[in-house]
Amino acid sequence: MPSRLFQLALRFVLPLAMVLGLIAYAVVPLVDNLTLRWFVRDLDARSQSLANALQEPLFEYIPQKSEKRINQLFDRALRDERLYAIAFCDPAGNLLYKTNTYPASLGCRSELPKNGRKESLVSLPPGSLHVSDSLLESEGQALGKLILVHDMSFIERRSADTKKYVIGLFTLLAIVISMITVFVAHLSWRDWIASVKGILRGQLGPHSQQQHSTAPEIRSLEGDLRAMLHEFNIERRTQDDPTHLWTPEKLRVLLHEELAGDEVLVVSNREPYLHARTRKGIEVQRPASGLVTAVEPVMRACSGTWIAHGSGSADKETVDRNDRVAVPPSNPSYTLRRVWLTKEEEKGYYYGFANEGLWPLCHIAHVRPVFRSSDWEQYEAVNQHFADAVVKEARTDDPVVLVQDYHFALLPRMVKEQLPKATIITFWHIPWPNPESFGICPWREEILEGLLGSTILGFHTQLHCKNFLETVDRYLETRIEHEASTISYGGKLTQVKHYPISIAWPEPNSEQPSVAECRKTIREEHGLPANHLLAVGVDRLDYTKGIIERFQAIERMLELHPDLVGKFTMIQIAAPTRSSLDEYQNFETRVRTLVQRINNRFASGNYQPLILKAEHHDSEQVTRYYRASETCLVTSLHDGMNLVAKEFIAARDDDRGVLVLSQFTGAARELHEALMVNPYHIEQSADALYRALTMPEAEQSERMRSMRSLVKDFNIYRWAGRMLLDAARLRQRERIMSKIRSHSRKSLRRVV
Ligand code: G6P
Repeated sequence: MPSRLFQLALRFVLPLAMVLGLIAYAVVPLVDNLTLRWFVRDLDARSQSLANALQEPLFEYIPQKSEKRINQLFDRALRDERLYAIAFCDPAGNLLYKTNTYPASLGCRSELPKNGRKESLVSLPPGSLHVSDSLLESEGQALGKLILVHDMSFIERRSADTKKYVIGLFTLLAIVISMITVFVAHLSWRDWIASVKGILRGQLGPHSQQQHSTAPEIRSLEGDLRAMLHEFNIERRTQDDPTHLWTPEKLRVLLHEELAGDEVLVVSNREPYLHARTRKGIEVQRPASGLVTAVEPVMRACSGTWIAHGSGSADKETVDRNDRVAVPPSNPSYTLRRVWLTKEEEKGYYYGFANEGLWPLCHIAHVRPVFRSSDWEQYEAVNQHFADAVVKEARTDDPVVLVQDYHFALLPRMVKEQLPKATIITFWHIPWPNPESFGICPWREEILEGLLGSTILGFHTQLHCKNFLETVDRYLETRIEHEASTISYGGKLTQVKHYPISIAWPEPNSEQPSVAECRKTIREEHGLPANHLLAVGVDRLDYTKGIIERFQAIERMLELHPDLVGKFTMIQIAAPTRSSLDEYQNFETRVRTLVQRINNRFASGNYQPLILKAEHHDSEQVTRYYRASETCLVTSLHDGMNLVAKEFIAARDDDRGVLVLSQFTGAARELHEALMVNPYHIEQSADALYRALTMPEAEQSERMRSMRSLVKDFNIYRWAGRMLLDAARLRQRERIMSKIRSHSRKSLRRVV
């Protein structure tokens, strides 16, 4: 408010002050001139009457040459403070009598005035002087010339005083006029804003009496505002209605209606499809990544462009000359734009800064983050490289850009700089730690600034949002509105919100093998008897997943329940990941050693309690394992969400199976019917596993049904839909605001 008043004041006071300055420049000299002329005329008249008064005595004294009396006469006359000097010259131009003050340089001032009088202004050492020559004559006989000199400095003094008064008067006038103008403008601004607010609050119905009080300036805007608000309300109701099922079709309609078909660009490091050269030729593969699992169905619905690192061995051979390829290969519905990175770039940006630095930094899993300047430089360069690709791919100046994950913390700001009207939604798929933990990153300010280029910044949980706000509060000078969860930085606003990610709820598929079939075939494939108890784990071979702790819990359970030895097996599917990093190689070695030790301990004949399948499995294969198992173990030490938990639930259309879930996953905030464990507490996990294996079917079914209905409703389309709706609202709000701004500019101009 004060700043708007200040702006108003500037707008009105400045021009007025300038105009008044001009007036003062023109008026003051004019006033000077006028006063001078008045005073000169006054002095002329005074000189004339003084000459007349002196004439008579002089006619008497001059012929007598009575110097003494003449001097006395002159001295008496000089008592008038304005009269400075007097002199008398004879007709021949000889200076006969003068007062001491008479300036010698004036002499007798040439010949006598022809018409009897002559005045002039001269500048001599005492200052400006008014000199008046009067011819003294009697009966046609010239006696001589009387010269009266007046000091004009009093005029300058008065003129300076007048100047002061004039300037003072005008300044006062300017202030009063400006204040009145600002006040009037402020009142009409308030009226105007009150009208807009009235409309926004829906107080002014179309037929309301109050409509007449709408400011005339916004009558034309009113219709637009009403239409937009109407849309808002309908959408808000639809979105907030938990019974409303989100489907790909609904997402498509939403994009079409709410974003008016605006273009959607996704940026991620991992591509949704990679082409690999194998012995059988070029094969299409789907990477094991929670991010890809979540975003791919959204892209199918949006038909936009997905920009990602082309990392497959045959990727270059399968793109067009613009590095684009239409995907999914079987039924193309969106464009994949591949970005190429050199080995050095990949090493510094992906393996180095992202996965040796940010990954362990954000997952507090007791692996020390490694920060190298050279990695940071590559991270910056690759972020810029991708930002340029976004700008190049954008067909409009205001696309919706969905930035994925910790690989691109700097990209939001970089894109915003080139496309200021873009709506940038950044989703951080991994946890955000507390300010102390994040504070050890040497480039923490740069990362935060980069992310604050986003219009919306999303995390899986409220806790991660809170951690982020606190981190920003600790390390940057920003304005944070905790209630609205917004951060204002460098004049830009970022909304921080939690959007729990999910999966696409599977369509009923008649070709899918039944649960009974899956149970049977999976057991057969592993040489296990039909009633053998199975647990499954599906993870990337990553130290954050708690795989070691999981195996230790199994060992402990078998110790506590030896009757299960030979009757229970855990199948761990572990997709290799980031294997060129020491930390991951060491981890794999530790996992394999542990598996061997536990298997040696409990093995008998062909029986092994742990089966480690450290290779890539496609989603159909994984689903078979989910359906075949009694329980699924998700024991991450820290995880943003963990979609395996939701995939397991989605796969169990028989309403059976038990989910054992780490309390340190985002999923634990939603899936309350899972058996919750602290993976660091081995005995607790062992107990939970035993409970899962022995849980009565009725209880399994009750728990599973409840979780299934939640995951079905809160699916990936709702996740994307909520973010895109929020983006649509912000875009519409921005449009309204810019309309209001332009109307307010116009109305202010009218007020002025
Ligand atoms: C998991 C995480 C994602 C991350 C991805 C990276 O899926 O949940 O946040 O982007 O791993 O995996 P990648 O194999 O691409 O390094």
